[in-house]
Amino acid sequence: MSETDVSKPTRDSLQRLAVSTPQDNAFGVYVHWPFCLSKCPYCDFNSHVRHAPVDEARYVRAFAAEIAATAQRVPDRTVSSIFFGGGTPSLMQPQSIAGILDAIARHWSVDPQVEVTLEANPTSVEATRFAGYRRAGVNRVSLGVQALDDASLKSLGRLHTAQEALDAVAIARNTFGRFSFDLIYARPQQTPQDWAAELRRALAEGAEHQSLYQLTIEADTPFAALYAAGKIATPDEDTARALFDVTREVCEAHGLPPYEVSNHARQGAECRHNLVYWRGHEYAGIGPGAHGRLDIGSRRYATATEKRPEAWLMRVEADGNGLITDEALTAEERADEFLLMGLRLAEGIDPARYEAIAGRALDSGRIAVLASEGVVDITPMGRLRVTREGFPVLDAVVADLAA
Ligand SMILES: C[S@@+](CC[C@H](N)C(=O)[O-])C[C@H]1O[C@@H](n2cnc3c(N)ncnc32)[C@H](O)[C@@H]1O
Ligand code: SF4
Repeated sequence: MSETDVSKPTRDSLQRLAVSTPQDNAFGVYVHWPFCLSKCPYCDFNSHVRHAPVDEARYVRAFAAEIAATAQRVPDRTVSSIFFGGGTPSLMQPQSIAGILDAIARHWSVDPQVEVTLEANPTSVEATRFAGYRRAGVNRVSLGVQALDDASLKSLGRLHTAQEALDAVAIARNTFGRFSFDLIYARPQQTPQDWAAELRRALAEGAEHQSLYQLTIEADTPFAALYAAGKIATPDEDTARALFDVTREVCEAHGLPPYEVSNHARQGAECRHNLVYWRGHEYAGIGPGAHGRLDIGSRRYATATEKRPEAWLMRVEADGNGLITDEALTAEERADEFLLMGLRLAEGIDPARYEAIAGRALDSGRIAVLASEGVVDITPMGRLRVTREGFPVLDAVVADLAA
């Protein structure tokens, strides 16, 4: 139960409503667990391998302290989604997850329909904890399957086999009301035909939601070094386009159309937490290297915490929070971010909301040119969205509109 009364509108909440649409009371809490059993060679997320055991209870106390500090700044919120991301949160004990959920419920009101997602690696050890997570309050799991053949999993540096991943998917299906899994495509040597066959096999597993990411070569990763040495190749532009098209077609045929560039879901099964980011709503970032957006007064604050886990822990123990960035965004920055995030969504954006944030309307001349090129359109409800043709050039469309 919450200690705060959210029924009375405050000056803050009224000002927030001024740049909101009716569904805009979503408030998410992101919790980052920064440890993994090994570092995958393609990954540049804030994840660390520790050979000594991690003092989980100490981290949970620090998470609770950061939740309390954040709730002091934005007390009058109702939490609509919670996301445990990583790193590998499925390395945490269920009682640690329960402890963090209790801390959230002590400091904020929680929507009875709250979505609580946990990212899990699909190894057999982690799957044994799924029932405990369910009892702790997790109601959605997102599994990092990545590929359905052992040779690809090996070259991605994964610690699980395809069969082990599928077994974890089956346990997730029986344990949680909702589950999703991630695959990485456009892998070295993967043809559109190979990918279509793999994707069909994946969709047959019956997840209501699939995150399908094109392999990105991130700077300063082992994959970047292999790429620079010519030892791995990424698809040329035509193949990348064919892979993107195949992804859409196969998912659409299966009843999971894309609702975002890389995310596909049955209607109503979209990840509510990710929608918080893409629709420009408010969220708290808790844990090492977590980012947040907090609306206080008429201003939106961009927050970020210390990335290194032990340094974050010491900061929180000394100061009650691990913040290293806490800046009010300018109207221009807010508007750019709204555009950048919102145009990733198939539903697009409400131009009136852009105008309320930016203090000026989008350039109608630019929209007309982009529409004549077939990369954006305006829906009958007046929303601006990127078309199927426009998604492969999304960055250029956003840059053009934001200029
Ligand atoms: C932060 S990871 C955490 C998930 C979990 N630790 C795991 O690996 O299964 C979230 C997802 O990002 C995707 N990802 C990470 N690095 C990527 C890259 N370089 N290219 C494409 N997708 C990537 C993977 O699909 C992964 O499941
Ligand atoms: S992909 Fe997942 S398991 Fe691999 S290093 Fe990144 S966060 Fe850890």
